Amino acid sequence: METVYLDRNENNYGPSQECQDVLKTATPDLFYMYSTAYKEGYKSLLSNRLANEFRITEDRVLLGYGAEDLLKQVVQTYLNRKRKKLLIPDHSWWYYKEISNEVKGTSIEYPIVEGKDSYEYDINKLMEIYENENPEVVFLASPNNPTGNSISDEQLTYVLDKMENSIVVLDEAYWFSNNNSKATALVNKYPNLIIIRTFSKLYALAGIRIGYALVGAGLKRIKKLSNRYLGYSRISEKIAIAAMDSVNYYNDIAKKMTDDRELYFTELNKIDGLKAYKSDANFVLVKVPKESMNKLKEFLLKKGLVVKFMNEKLVNSHLRISLGTQEQNRRVINAITEFYKTYSS
Ligand SMILES: Cc1ncc(COP(=O)(O)O)c(C=O)c1O
Repeated sequence: METVYLDRNENNYGPSQECQDVLKTATPDLFYMYSTAYKEGYKSLLSNRLANEFRITEDRVLLGYGAEDLLKQVVQTYLNRKRKKLLIPDHSWWYYKEISNEVKGTSIEYPIVEGKDSYEYDINKLMEIYENENPEVVFLASPNNPTGNSISDEQLTYVLDKMENSIVVLDEAYWFSNNNSKATALVNKYPNLIIIRTFSKLYALAGIRIGYALVGAGLKRIKKLSNRYLGYSRISEKIAIAAMDSVNYYNDIAKKMTDDRELYFTELNKIDGLKAYKSDANFVLVKVPKESMNKLKEFLLKKGLVVKFMNEKLVNSHLRISLGTQEQNRRVINAITEFYKTYSS
C-alpha cells in the first residue's frame, strides 16, 4: 500500500502540465549559462514577471530559496539592532522562533484565540503587546500555521496604520485559499511592509524551493543584501512562470480544496469529542481526545495515512491534516470516522 503524506502541507496534486513541459523542453543553456536578464535591464525573468503582476517596481521583488529563506533574510537584516525583539503569534510555525534565536533575538508572543468555529486574531491584544514591547519586527501570518485562520483586510490595515515604527512581515505562504486578499496592493502604500509568498503550496512546487517577497519602498537594506549578482536558478524560474500561467489548473485545485475543507469541517464535527476548525489554508486543525492520539496514529499508519500529530505547548491534543487529493481526503475522513466508532479509552 502506498503511503500518503499529509503532514507537511505539501500539495499532492502536483504541478501543472505546463510546469512539467518546461523540463521536457529545456535547452542546455538553461543549465550551463548564468542568466542574462540584466542585459535587458532587470534582475531575473521571474522577478520581472512578479513585478508586472503586482504592479510594483522590480527592485522591490526579492526572490529566495523558499519563503523559509526570505523570512530568515528579514530577521538577519532587521533583528540586529538594539531592541532585538520579534513579535510572533503564540500558535505559529516553530521556525519563527528558531530564526530569532539564531541572531539572539527575543521572540514575544501575541495570542491567536479560539473562536466558535475557527481561530482568530485578537487585534486589541496584539496592539497592546505591540505598544508595550516596541519590537523591531512583527510577523503576521495569513493564513496562520497551524490554526488556519487569516487576518482580514480591515484588521491588517488597522495594524499597519499603527505599526509604522517596525518592519511588518506578512507571511502569506498559504494565501491561495484566501484569494480575495488585497494585501499586495498594501505593499505600495506601507513602506515598512514585507509580504512573503511561496511557490511551494498553491503551485505544488515545494521541491524547487522558490519564494518571493514584495517589499515596501522604505526597505532599502534588505533590497541590497538580498541581491544575487549571478542571478537565480534559471530552470526553477521558468517552472515558476509556467505555474503562474496555468491559472485554470490552480483555480481548480483551490476550488477542490475549499470544498474539502468544508467536508472535513462537517464530517469530523459529527464525531463526538472532536472539534475541526475552519481554515483558509491547505490544511485543517482538529482537536481530538488526547488519550486517543497514540492509537489513532497507529490506526492511520496501518492504513498508509500520515498526518501531523501536534505536540506543542498550546496545541498538543490536535492533528494538523494537510489537504491531499479529493480521494485522499475522503480516505482520511473515513478512517478517522471508523476509528472513533469503535474507540474506547
Ligand atoms: C507559515 C509558513 N511560512 C513559510 C513556509 C515555508 O515555505 P517554503 O517552502 O517556501 O520555504 C511554511 C512551510 O511549511 C509555513 O508553514
